Amino acid sequence: MPQPTPIDRITLEVARSPKGDAPVRFEVPVPSAASRVLDALLYVRHHLDPSLGFRYACRAGMCGSCAVVINGKEGLACQTTVASLGTRTVSVGPLRSLPVQKDLMVDMKPFFDSFKRADAAFRPTEPARRSIRTLPPGDPDRMLIERQNGCITCGACYSACEWSASRPGYLGPAALNRLLMLSLDERDAKGVRRLAVAATDAGALRCHALGSCTQVCPVEVPVREGMQRLKGLLATRDIEG
Ligand code: SF4
Ligand code: FES
Repeated sequence: MPQPTPIDRITLEVARSPKGDAPVRFEVPVPSAASRVLDALLYVRHHLDPSLGFRYACRAGMCGSCAVVINGKEGLACQTTVASLGTRTVSVGPLRSLPVQKDLMVDMKPFFDSFKRADAAFRPTEPARRSIRTLPPGDPDRMLIERQNGCITCGACYSACEWSASRPGYLGPAALNRLLMLSLDERDAKGVRRLAVAATDAGALRCHALGSCTQVCPVEVPVREGMQRLKGLLATRDIEG
């Protein structure tokens, strides 16, 4: 069997702002199988067009700042290898449903505002609880929290979510996932009562469980499954008060 020729050069099609402008094409070398989409963007900035706007920080898949749409699917530019895409033309665009600031940079304020609107922040009991139930390995609540934890607030799920795109008031998968974890945290003063917002028009009942959120999450948070659990809690728990 002949081996496929490694891709050593790509055409990078980059969306430039203002939105709607035709993408700009750059010929970019791919020096190794480990070369990332971020390396290609940096090549453009260093050698071809220093005005190209994009964000990155950690280059290790931890900060979430380099999330973009690559060949039509959300992903982290610093973690996506060019080789894994398997195409000689690679398109890169900004996250969807968020205002474009410049080229690949979006204003993340609507995304982070959804956490504020959901009050998705830990509120300790006053005074702090002294006895807290220990959750041993295998406890269903512990397993759920471990599965749903780890969000790096990259915004990829918000971008991929069909409801976020069509309903500006919708809280979106990441904020609702955070609400779920807080509602199960015994140290949190609001507990399941904080789910009241998830029962509104802005919340989980709007989710149609298409699963794009889970498919694009770079740290494999099963966001869709969390939304289903949220719906289950809303159906069975008293969340008034
Ligand atoms: S849940 Fe995943 S895709 Fe959504 S913001 Fe968090 S890390 Fe990104
Ligand atoms: S630069 Fe931090 S996740 Fe990509």
